[in-house]
Amino acid sequence: MCGIIGYIGQKNSTPFLIEGLKKLEYRGYDSAGLCVLKNKKLYTLKKKGKIAELEKDQRLKNISGLIGIAHTRWATHGEPNERNAHPHFDCHKNIAIAHNGIIENHTALKKILTKEGHRIISQTDSEIFAHLIEKFYQGNLEKAVSQTLKLVDGSYGLVVIHQQENKIIAARKGSPLIIGVGQNEMLVASDTAALLAHTKKVIYLDDEEMAIISKDKYSIKNLDGQRLNKQIEEIKWTVAQMEKKGFKHFMLKEIFEQPQSVTETIRGRIKNNKIKISIGFNLESIERIIITACGTSWHAALIGKYLLEQLAQIPTEVDYASEFRYRQPLIRKNNLMIAISQSGETADTLAALREAKKNQAKTLGIINVVGSTISREVDSGIYLYAGPEIGVASTKAFTSQVSALILLSLYLRQKQNLPLDKKILVDLKKIPEKIKEVLQVDRQIKKIAFAFKDARNFLYLGRGINFPVALEGALKLKEISYIHAEGYPAAEMKHGPIALIDSQMPVVFIAPKNALSSKIISNMQEVKARAGKIIAVTDYPDKEIKKVAEYIIKVPSINNYLSPIINSIPLQLLAYHIADLKNINVDKPRNLAKSVTVE
Ligand code: G6P
Repeated sequence: MCGIIGYIGQKNSTPFLIEGLKKLEYRGYDSAGLCVLKNKKLYTLKKKGKIAELEKDQRLKNISGLIGIAHTRWATHGEPNERNAHPHFDCHKNIAIAHNGIIENHTALKKILTKEGHRIISQTDSEIFAHLIEKFYQGNLEKAVSQTLKLVDGSYGLVVIHQQENKIIAARKGSPLIIGVGQNEMLVASDTAALLAHTKKVIYLDDEEMAIISKDKYSIKNLDGQRLNKQIEEIKWTVAQMEKKGFKHFMLKEIFEQPQSVTETIRGRIKNNKIKISIGFNLESIERIIITACGTSWHAALIGKYLLEQLAQIPTEVDYASEFRYRQPLIRKNNLMIAISQSGETADTLAALREAKKNQAKTLGIINVVGSTISREVDSGIYLYAGPEIGVASTKAFTSQVSALILLSLYLRQKQNLPLDKKILVDLKKIPEKIKEVLQVDRQIKKIAFAFKDARNFLYLGRGINFPVALEGALKLKEISYIHAEGYPAAEMKHGPIALIDSQMPVVFIAPKNALSSKIISNMQEVKARAGKIIAVTDYPDKEIKKVAEYIIKVPSINNYLSPIINSIPLQLLAYHIADLKNINVDKPRNLAKSVTVE
């Protein structure tokens, strides 16, 4: 989703801005632009489409200056075109702004401004910022911005420059902004990825905070102008982690990184047959758990429900964050809200978390990005340490989320002194090896992908703890290959989807050996009887399965609670190879954003 980068220092800001925008590309966008200040004049260039379009434009060569802001836009209000691209300007082109988020009262504000004679030229809500700042500006940009922010309802990550002032003003509410502290230069970005190559020293802005940034100093204030003492923190990720390392796509690299990423999630958290995680509050009084998340993280949450109910014996509900936040949920003090998010910035998940906090529930985050908004707002958290995930379709974060949920469920079981079969811990330690083993199916999956790349629909079926794996397999496929796919509990197939089955319908079964094996084989037979093409992901390819399945993807056996980690990997590879064969830009599929910071 939209990205912001700003630079102020002793060097030409343009290369910093372009390079920063490229680092933000993975978030998804459909237009880009920059604005640079030189000799008290603003120079700008905006383009629909990719950053490469900006670079190709000869006019970019003439744009240089020591202060600049830039933006990648993911269209919300108004189609992607040059006029709607950021930065936006006031009527006299003295002020330039770039904005992430949504101004909810923009229609009312626009009316007032238009009446006052302002000419608003784009369809965006964001342009309002430039005009409001113009309205309030009396020689002090900081003041004008803070007056503006007090009028605006909604969310913003905002950067502002004025041609008379050698500074960048940055402000945040509900949309992340991070200040990068360099040597005689300062940066500001909506994502640490854009800062890493220049500095690891950062300050995370919190909601309703403003930063006044010049080349060698900064101050952080609240909207009333009071100075705040903010700590400089250090980013742990490295530039090398952000590179493709010879893989064709980030997504493929991230799929193959899973032995390592899951190792990092469980590292140091199992000692002497005990789970060691530190939760900063008392868990004993917890009577009910609510997990909230979006997208792939929501699928991890569904697996978490099985784990928490069966292993920790605590009633657990799972809610889409976007639904939870508005349905006036009944939350009690002794409830625990778990927010799962790779990015830690998803707007709906954040809002659901705040709703739970308002009702005094305890909150716990399962988050990958250290320092992200959700990670800073929860009472306690379990970081995934999976490393940066760049591919829009989440892979390694998902298996790490499931690993973290297994650890949490076992920890809660341990806390209640419930007996524990030590074999699960043995298997948990073996997980990275088993992932290496399952990755060897890559070649076979390429062939299967070739056979089905032209399919128009796919069905994914699983049962029990592997039902959410079916949902995740279907989501992966539709996200990156644009093939319509649905996930269902295998038995539920009879109540609708069976009508779709014919010889053109590939059906992926997740069929591990467990108490429900015979039932899933019956479901396979029902598909076979209707000429559906079965792809079975299983650890026991016995003759019953061989009889009905077109393709069998053999995966290593593992404890049933851990099986979603193993079973999801062939499905990631299947989606990847089908999308790649269709020449789709796997890492940046159309219309999707890596981090959805608006609702
Ligand atoms: C977007 C991404 C998905 C992701 C979802 C939740 O829709 O495209 O891949 O699963 O957001 O993101 P989160 O960062 O909260 O896990």
